[in-house]
Amino acid sequence: MRVFCGRAHTELGDEICRHLQVAPGMCEVKSFADGEAQVKILDDVRGLDVFIVQPTCPPVNEALMELLVMVDALRRSSARRITAVVPYYGYARQDRKHEGRVPITAKLVANLFATAGVDRMLCMDLHAQQIQGFFDIPVDHLIAKPVIANYLKKSELDNLVIVSPDVGSVKLADGFSRIFNCDFAIIEKRRKSDTEIEHGHVIGNISGKNVIIVDDMISTAGSMASAIEIAREHGAKSVRIAASHGLFVGPAWERLAAAGADEIIVTNSVPQNIQAVPESVNFTVLSVAPTLAEAIIRIHHDKSMSPLFEPGYLS
Ligand code: R5P
Repeated sequence: MRVFCGRAHTELGDEICRHLQVAPGMCEVKSFADGEAQVKILDDVRGLDVFIVQPTCPPVNEALMELLVMVDALRRSSARRITAVVPYYGYARQDRKHEGRVPITAKLVANLFATAGVDRMLCMDLHAQQIQGFFDIPVDHLIAKPVIANYLKKSELDNLVIVSPDVGSVKLADGFSRIFNCDFAIIEKRRKSDTEIEHGHVIGNISGKNVIIVDDMISTAGSMASAIEIAREHGAKSVRIAASHGLFVGPAWERLAAAGADEIIVTNSVPQNIQAVPESVNFTVLSVAPTLAEAIIRIHHDKSMSPLFEPGYLS
């Protein structure tokens, strides 16, 4: 087997390789002067089980195209099987026609992967579970919940309530509340634009409680910043936020610094620029490299993924 890394998140690729105790596959990934991705595989991969680690994070189009070009190069180099390890799957939020004359990009990107020659997908916390069905190739869909829950358990917080900042994350909040054996609450969210949202009623009781708001991703942080404010207005004792994918684009850090959560927890599914984090923010990045490495080993040896979903995994 061989693990290759694109340029989107070499740190994560290297960490996965360290866990697997293998050297990263040798390849040259560069750009032509006009910006086109240029790839040369330096290892002989004929007949090998190949994995490419590349979250399609910002700059999304570059990461995506580079991954597709790498897949093409590996396929033409006669790799036996190609698994795209995409811990963050960009373009996932456009997953249905919510109004007329709009695309379904989550499906378009799934088609692109298959056309390029991907045989299997290894993803983490897709924006919606149904996206698995957009692929006609096997998809292993991992979750970061055990990693986040395991970390939160160490804080030994009592009187907890898990909060979903919108109806889309209710299942996630329910999953966390079962692990912590506590209640969950929902904040009603209405989106005014892709960067602005409006929060309304709270369903459930958060007064006097230690609140943990969970979501799949933080992008411009409009959802989370507003949810933090609502939680405080409703008498939360403390407010922590946790998300699998921390993109932190546009006004995200400004908004989060102003909202003032007690802690912001994300994983390293996408690269984190620690220099951009305001001093006042208590920021924690948890590594999902051990989970991804374990999944890669299991795929390679045709072993079940089920243990990775057990609540006690990693604890
Ligand atoms: C929405 O459905 C997602 O689960 C997130 O709540 C959303 O994408 C976060 O975006 P932003 O940080 O820009 O509010």
